[in-house]
Amino acid sequence: MSSGPEALQKVFKTLSDPTRIRILRLLEQEELIVGELMNILGMAQSRVSRHLAILREAGLLTDRRDGTFVAYRLALPEDGPWADAWALSRAAFADDPTAKRDDTLLRQALAARKARALSGRSFFDEVGPEWDALRTVFGDDLLRARATATLVPPRLRVADIGTGTGVLALELADLGLDVIGIDQSGAMLEAARDKAAELAPATPGRIEFRTGDAHALPLEDASVDAAFGHMVLHSLAEPGRAIQEMARIVRPGGQVVLVDFLLHDHTWMAQELGLLWLGFEEAQLRDWITEAGLVAPRLRRYASEAKRDLPASFVATAHRPSGADGADG
Ligand SMILES: C[S@@+](CC[C@H](N)C(=O)[O-])C[C@H]1O[C@@H](n2cnc3c(N)ncnc32)[C@H](O)[C@@H]1O
Repeated sequence: MSSGPEALQKVFKTLSDPTRIRILRLLEQEELIVGELMNILGMAQSRVSRHLAILREAGLLTDRRDGTFVAYRLALPEDGPWADAWALSRAAFADDPTAKRDDTLLRQALAARKARALSGRSFFDEVGPEWDALRTVFGDDLLRARATATLVPPRLRVADIGTGTGVLALELADLGLDVIGIDQSGAMLEAARDKAAELAPATPGRIEFRTGDAHALPLEDASVDAAFGHMVLHSLAEPGRAIQEMARIVRPGGQVVLVDFLLHDHTWMAQELGLLWLGFEEAQLRDWITEAGLVAPRLRRYASEAKRDLPASFVATAHRPSGADGADG
């Protein structure tokens, strides 16, 4: 190819499309097949193939048949202004976020290729039961809980008793639920309202905070689908009465969800964190739940996942009988 004006025009035309520069950057680093380019670029086959055809026509690619696939690689022509033009183009993309993302996805594509090549067996066939030790890299329990929580039907109306700064209330509103957060502390509610105002535009559920006492809730009978008491029972003079109040405000068939510590001997928590109760015994909780007229109680125990020594917790659920419950409970 000559280095006259015509040749220069072809160089500029070929390199005028950012997608083609992205493809060339990738093919300079690795030999890739169309499917891999599609995954990295997030583009359909027709688009990737069209760009490859232009690059091939410009003489910038070598291709090699590998079984049923064709693998491409960048091969700059020795003559003409290609080397200079390519050096300029590549430098222009050095700090480009899309190019950085392409590089990350390229590494993933190469890792996937390596996994496929493992003597016909998948990476996962090789790893088998060791996976549980490896999988911690892929996300924590919270992430799985978030995924599971997406199953909650939206627009349920729920109450969060002892909402504090509204952490749970905001999470519930984020799932699309309508939430009433209740607390007796003005300072806590002020912090909760500030947070809600900040997040409101992005929160699908409605959220309202009310001042009130857990022992005499400012809510009508059977006015919510569920009532939560998250780490509040231990702050209350009469937890049993608060559970009765929660049972009163949920509709028939509605659920009460209690989360708190199991009985423990961390007396420092009473002094430093104002706990009135050092956790609860399962039998005591079940008595309170039954006395409140709730049925089908279920209690799960969870060891603390914190690095330091902290008490185990429980999540207890029970529901208000509905017509369908019969002898349930
Ligand atoms: C340990 S904090 C937990 C806050 C929140 N649920 C959370 O998990 O982050 C206990 C909350 O219960 C509130 N509280 C204590 N006694 C209460 C009562 N009798 N009625 C309503 N709220 C109460 C406190 O003001 C405080 O916000």
